[in-house]
Amino acid sequence: MLDKSRPIVVDLLADDFHERAHTVYDELRAQSPVVFAELPEQPGRGFWMITGYAAADAALRDNRLANNPRALLSEKQLAARARAQIPEPPHTMLLADPPEHTRLRRAAQQAFTSRSVTALRPTMIRHAGHLLDEAEQAARNGDGTVDLLHAYAYPLSLTVLGEILGFPDTWHTGLHDLAVRAATASTPLSGPDPALRELLENYTRDLVLLKRDTPGDDLVSRLVHPRSGKDALSDGELMAMIGLLVAAGFETSASLIASATLSLLTHPAQWAALRDNPDLAAPAVEETMRYWGPVESATMRLALAPLELGSRRIERGDRVLVFPAAANRDPAHITDPHRFDIHRRPRPHLGFSGGIHNCMGAALARTEVAIALTTLTTRWPGLSTAVPPAELRWRPGMGLRGLRRLPVRP
Ligand code: HEM
Repeated sequence: MLDKSRPIVVDLLADDFHERAHTVYDELRAQSPVVFAELPEQPGRGFWMITGYAAADAALRDNRLANNPRALLSEKQLAARARAQIPEPPHTMLLADPPEHTRLRRAAQQAFTSRSVTALRPTMIRHAGHLLDEAEQAARNGDGTVDLLHAYAYPLSLTVLGEILGFPDTWHTGLHDLAVRAATASTPLSGPDPALRELLENYTRDLVLLKRDTPGDDLVSRLVHPRSGKDALSDGELMAMIGLLVAAGFETSASLIASATLSLLTHPAQWAALRDNPDLAAPAVEETMRYWGPVESATMRLALAPLELGSRRIERGDRVLVFPAAANRDPAHITDPHRFDIHRRPRPHLGFSGGIHNCMGAALARTEVAIALTTLTTRWPGLSTAVPPAELRWRPGMGLRGLRRLPVRP
């Protein structure tokens, strides 16, 4: 049954969920693109789970669905929660609704325009080449293999983020470990792990103090020293903004580099096509976003008013969880959805979400991953996986899809 009194139990938090996610999505979608689901660990805390493209697209654009989990609480309830010291989620644009969302997003978006991203291209190309030099040397000194995820994808993503935010190179190792652990530990249903959140806060606090004293040409310096008082963020907003950018931008881009490389290596004709024609890098990025996009499920939404999605009635106060990964393989939306094909046209996807919360770093991620792929195919044209692809595993954690490692032979 598909009504709220009989939720479908879906084991989204299982360690091996990503290995079988698309079978689960296909089965659910065949019943209905919008079902009422709950986790085995959280009985009675159901939510509408969206696996169909049309319903997902509509939900992401519907302003009756709020991102602020406290949107329906009264002033009195909020004050009572504050008195009881109930921990609240960080004050980020991702968990805010207009007009607050608009103000927070405006404060940072200039660093992510296509002009800003184009200015970063030479730096990305230089770093990608440099990282492959180092990895090649390490492979030569070792057993001839490299873990592409940890030697190339993560460091490239972190270096690019460091250029934008202005954090010192000496922080890379610590931030790398922290962000990988955070990506595994937090989900749209459990929120961030408190211990990891505290560690990230320590970094962001140090960064704010650093930029207060010695500003540079970077986003955090501009946020700490705004041109006008009306653009100023509170200390809490500033910290939350930096935390969000690290959480949203680091692991996702790195996972996409690894997933795209694996997809291409397991489809050798497509790897060869990209090697011979670098113009195919952008289509390869888009097809990987559709096929193995790093964001499996979006942020939980809360219905502020009744609405209809996929012919289901959503009541005020209901929770709604969109799965871009499932929507992107909806056979009602795209032909032969489980086939990876960089030549496919058109291939619209929701991997960067939609509506007002569409990914602010999408242009950056697209450029960075395309550069990572063309540098790889140019420098290591004969690249192959160093273990049978069937042995590779996805990290646990339902919100994000990323490989645990990607051993390759240059
Ligand atoms: C391949 C890499 C990336 C993917 C797949 C991705 C995906 C997404 C998705 C799906 C959302 C919306 C979630 C929702 O609607 O609930 C989002 C939001 C966001 N992303 Fe990304 N992202 C990527 C890279 C980045 C990068 C590099 C940055 C910046 C450094 C970034 C910054 C943000 C921000 C700030 C938001 C919140 C936007 C808002 O609430 O208005 N992302 N991203």
